[in-house]
Amino acid sequence: MTTAVMQKSNIVDQEKGDAFYDKHYADGGWEYSRWREYLWHRKHLVKHFRIARGARMLEIACGTGFHTNLFNRMGFHCVGIDRSESGIECARKRYPRRAFHHCDFRDVPFPDNSFDVVVARGFSFYHYDLASYEAHEATRTLLRYLKPGGMFAMLIVTDLSGAREEGCVWQNTLDDYEAHFSSFGMKWSVDWAEGMAICGLFKPN
Ligand SMILES: C[S@@+](CC[C@H](N)C(=O)[O-])C[C@H]1O[C@@H](n2cnc3c(N)ncnc32)[C@H](O)[C@@H]1O
Repeated sequence: MTTAVMQKSNIVDQEKGDAFYDKHYADGGWEYSRWREYLWHRKHLVKHFRIARGARMLEIACGTGFHTNLFNRMGFHCVGIDRSESGIECARKRYPRRAFHHCDFRDVPFPDNSFDVVVARGFSFYHYDLASYEAHEATRTLLRYLKPGGMFAMLIVTDLSGAREEGCVWQNTLDDYEAHFSSFGMKWSVDWAEGMAICGLFKPN
C-alpha cells in the first residue's frame, strides 16, 4: 500500500479524502496478496490478541472489503463499514456474501456495545497527529461499539521514524502510539511488526 495520500495537515480532511478514495477504489483500489495478508493477520492480529473464533467483529474503514472477507474466512462474523461509496459498492460486488455498510465511523448502524472486536486497519485518523482532539474522539467513538470486555485493534503502516513530511502520512513512533492508547484509562498494548503498528485497547467488563 502506498503511504502517500492527499492530506497536508494533521487534521483529516474528509471531503478531500472522500474524493481521493472514491476515485482510487473506482480504479480498482489496492491489490493485496491473499496468502501474505492471511499469514500476517493470523500472527499479528488473531494470535497476538487471542481472538476467539466466532467473535463478532466490526471492521472500520474496510475500503473494498478485502480484510472484512478475510476475517470472515478466518472464522469471525465480520461486518465492514466505510465512508467511500465506491469502496462499499466494490466490496459488495466482490464479496456478495458479506455485510457492508456505507457510512461514517461515527454513524454505524449498530447500537453501542455490539461487538467483541473493532478493527481499524489503515484508518486515516491514526496516520496523523495522535495527540489531536480528532484522534482521541475517533478512539472514544470506536470504543462505544465494543461490548464490555471487548477489544479495539488498530493496525497502521509506520516506519517509526517520526517523519512528518508534507503531503505524506506521518510516520508515528511507538511513543506516539503509547501516549495515545495509554490515555483512555484502560488496559492497552502497543507493538510493531513488519512495517505496521499493532495497538490494542481493552474495554473493561
Ligand atoms: C488508507 S484506506 C484503508 C482501507 C483499508 N482498511 C485497507 O487497509 O486497505 C482508509 C479508509 O478510511 C476510510 N475513511 C476515512 N474517513 C472515514 C470515516 N470518517 N468514516 C469511515 N471511513 C472512513 C476511507 O474511505 C478509506 O477507505
